[in-house]
Amino acid sequence: MHSGSIPTRGRTLDYAAPVYDFCEPLLLMGRLASYNRAMIELLGLEPGHRVLDIGCGTGTLTRAIADRLDPAVGGCATGIDAAAAMIDVARKKRSCAACRFEVAAAEQLPFEDGSFDAAVSSLFYHHVDRDLKERSLREAFRVLRPGGLLVVADMHRPTTFMGRLISHAARWFLMQPQIGENIAGLLPELMLRAGFEQPRLHAMFMGYIALFSTRKDQ
Ligand SMILES: C[S@@+](CC[C@H](N)C(=O)[O-])C[C@H]1O[C@@H](n2cnc3c(N)ncnc32)[C@H](O)[C@@H]1O
Repeated sequence: MHSGSIPTRGRTLDYAAPVYDFCEPLLLMGRLASYNRAMIELLGLEPGHRVLDIGCGTGTLTRAIADRLDPAVGGCATGIDAAAAMIDVARKKRSCAACRFEVAAAEQLPFEDGSFDAAVSSLFYHHVDRDLKERSLREAFRVLRPGGLLVVADMHRPTTFMGRLISHAARWFLMQPQIGENIAGLLPELMLRAGFEQPRLHAMFMGYIALFSTRKDQ
């Protein structure tokens, strides 16, 4: 583990930080930009919004969100990741006036209750076990203001042959039971248990990554 990283049972990616920006577009088969755009559209951003990106990795999505905010009216995108090496890359490559990056665990967020208008998370929940999925969703709920929006893109019940092939292969080759929980369709139920409204499924990418949104009640 990188010296500045936060100890967590989550699968952190310190070791992948130097090559992550090269690998992710390949894994998303050239659809990274449209994938990020779909999440950002759902956020319904306003210039002054405060947005949290949970498990931000090297900060590509955090920065794309920040580019739509205005720091002069309080707009800020905050990316957190437990892997210090990922946050180092994010700070070097994606820093701007409307974004900040912090090393933090999603299951123990260092933020006040109600301090964000929206939270987003891409490809993070399949890195943590059921207990941490629940705890990090409860933390997302806590730090959102009433009426705040949560947008999640992550592995879910596959809907196509290729989706089934890719997600089950990932579960067994990477020996990641956490992926198995996602494939079994656990995320929406855990969002409800954390206190969120009934999640809406907006789209499936490549037959195995679901795009959800849900809200913290007013
Ligand atoms: C597949 S990457 C996704 C990165 C980015 N969101 C994206 O879409 O490219 C998953 C990230 O979750 C981070 N992670 C794993 N467990 C974590 C935890 N408990 N708290 C915060 N981040 C964690 C990993 O270090 C990794 O950067």
